[in-house]
Amino acid sequence: MTAPATFVLRHTRRRPVPGLEEIVLHLADEVLPLWRAVGVETGDSDAALPYWAFAWAGGLAIGRYLRDHPEAVSGRRVFDLASGSGLCAIAAMHAGASAATGADIDAFAAAAIELNARANGRRIRVVRRDVLEEEAPEADVILAGDCWYEARLAERVLPWLRRARDRGIAVLIGDPGRRYLPAEELVELASYDVRTTTELEDLEHKQARVYALPPPRGSASG
Ligand SMILES: C[S@@+](CC[C@H](N)C(=O)[O-])C[C@H]1O[C@@H](n2cnc3c(N)ncnc32)[C@H](O)[C@@H]1O
Repeated sequence: MTAPATFVLRHTRRRPVPGLEEIVLHLADEVLPLWRAVGVETGDSDAALPYWAFAWAGGLAIGRYLRDHPEAVSGRRVFDLASGSGLCAIAAMHAGASAATGADIDAFAAAAIELNARANGRRIRVVRRDVLEEEAPEADVILAGDCWYEARLAERVLPWLRRARDRGIAVLIGDPGRRYLPAEELVELASYDVRTTTELEDLEHKQARVYALPPPRGSASG
């Protein structure tokens, strides 16, 4: 089997992220041929989509928000849940975070996060496991970009984020209005017109929002 980093480099091109041109990522043009290549490489006909080869609308919104509001992460330790390409973690480091971790369950994502961090001259710690089975991480801010695209993940993410919030960790969510997003429970902070690709979405431009989790009920500020 090819090393994951070699596979990522073979199937992507390094280029600036639309709307966040200060960040470069190893990105793919087409999803289906790459998905097929992942299946052949892993011998798994049911392999996960190559999420890591694209900048998703939710992550793009978080990146824009951190550029506009660097104080949200400046000097703070950031944990990028479901990191994919590492986009949100890299944006956080650009905004002045003291450290960033990218967590993803996909081996190719882990390789992509490392390659993309290096391409941007940043250090990102990579965690490749299902952290939703664990306690909240040692972090000041958790970023969750585009995590509400499937029911099973959606139902696990929110309780985990709530527990992190209850421990005093700030939570920022980026999402283009996916089906499973519990928007009624969130506080909208900003909205961005982001450019993605019709390889992934029905439209090239999406309106993607950034949300915070409100303080727990009964807290002094809640
Ligand atoms: C739609 S992508 C979003 C990537 C990135 N945050 C962005 O906005 O560009 C979702 C990512 O979640 C990852 N993922 C799915 N389940 C996960 C889990 N339990 N823990 C961590 N990552 C997970 C997938 O591998 C994928 O890379």
